Amino acid sequence: MVPFLTTAHGALFAADCIEFLATLRSEVVDTVFADPPFNLGKDYKNGFDDSVNREKYFEWCRQWIGECSRVMKPGGAFFLYATPELALRFGTMLSERLTFRHWIALSMKGTFPRGRKLYPAHYALLYFTRGEPKTFNRVRLPVPTCRHCGGEIKDYGGHRDKLNPAGLNLTDFWDDTSPNRHTKFKVRPGVNELKLMIPERAILVSTNPGDLVYDPFGGGGSTFQAAEQHHRNWLGTELYDCDHIKSRLADAFPASIQRTPSFDLEACFNEDHVTQILRGLAREGVSARIG
Ligand SMILES: C[S@@+](CC[C@H](N)C(=O)[O-])C[C@H]1O[C@@H](n2cnc3c(N)ncnc32)[C@H](O)[C@@H]1O
Repeated sequence: MVPFLTTAHGALFAADCIEFLATLRSEVVDTVFADPPFNLGKDYKNGFDDSVNREKYFEWCRQWIGECSRVMKPGGAFFLYATPELALRFGTMLSERLTFRHWIALSMKGTFPRGRKLYPAHYALLYFTRGEPKTFNRVRLPVPTCRHCGGEIKDYGGHRDKLNPAGLNLTDFWDDTSPNRHTKFKVRPGVNELKLMIPERAILVSTNPGDLVYDPFGGGGSTFQAAEQHHRNWLGTELYDCDHIKSRLADAFPASIQRTPSFDLEACFNEDHVTQILRGLAREGVSARIG
C-alpha cells in the first residue's frame, strides 16, 4: 500500500478501499465523503463490474460503511451520496454506529422516468456524525439573482433588509446542483463525476483547515480538488484509473503535485504498514513528515 500520488495536502492510493481502510488506525479522519458505485450496471469504462448480485452488493457496502465509520474521529462526519432507494438501506447501516443529521436532497435533473414511476429529480446526500458534531460551520450562499436581468429572484416577504449580509443559510435542499458536471468538463468520460460544489459544501460544513478528509471512491477526483483548494488534508482511494485524478490535480494545483504532504501521513496508518508506506514514498522521491 504505497501512494500513487501525493500533494501538499493529500495522498491518493490506487487501491481497493476496503483493503486500504484495514491499514488505517481508528479515529484519524475528520470527514468521510463517499459517492459509491450504485450497482446499476453502469459502464465505468474502467473494467469495474457495476452489476453484482444485490445482496452481495449490500454486504460489500456494509463492509466499507463499517470501516469508514471506524476510522472517523468522535464528532467526525460521514457524507454519503446515493439514490433515494439506496439511501434508505445505507441510512440503516450508518445508524448502527452514527447519529443522523440530515438527508440533503440534491436536485438532479436530466434523468428519466423508469416504468411506472415518477420522474426522479433528486439524489440524497446522507449526513451522519459520530455523536455530536465536533465541527459545524454555517455555509452561506449568495442571494440568487436572475441570470437575464440580474435582479433578485425573491422578495423575502418584505424582509429583505433582515437577511444576513453574508448571504443565505445553506439548507438541506440543494437545488443548484443540477445538472451533473457536463461531459465536456469531466475528467473521466462515463463516470458520474460530481459537481465540485457537492463535496466542497460537505467539507466546508464539517471541517476546518488542516482537518483530514477521506474519500474511498475517488472517481474523477472532485473531493480531492475541493479539499486541496480549501487547505484540508485528504486521503483517497481509487481502484482504477488514477491517472485522471493526477492530471486533474496537476492542472488545478501545479505547484502542489508530488510534494510532501504537510500533515503527519504516517500517523494515519497501523504500525505494521508505516514502513511499507515510507518506502513507497521514498521511491517516489517524496519524504514523509516524521511524526
Ligand atoms: C461514482 S464514482 C465516484 C465519482 C467521484 N465522486 C467524482 O466526483 O469524481 C465511483 C468510483 O469508485 C471506484 N471504485 C469502485 N470500486 C472501488 C473499490 N473497491 N475501491 C476503490 N474505488 C472503487 C470506481 O472505479 C469509480 O471511479
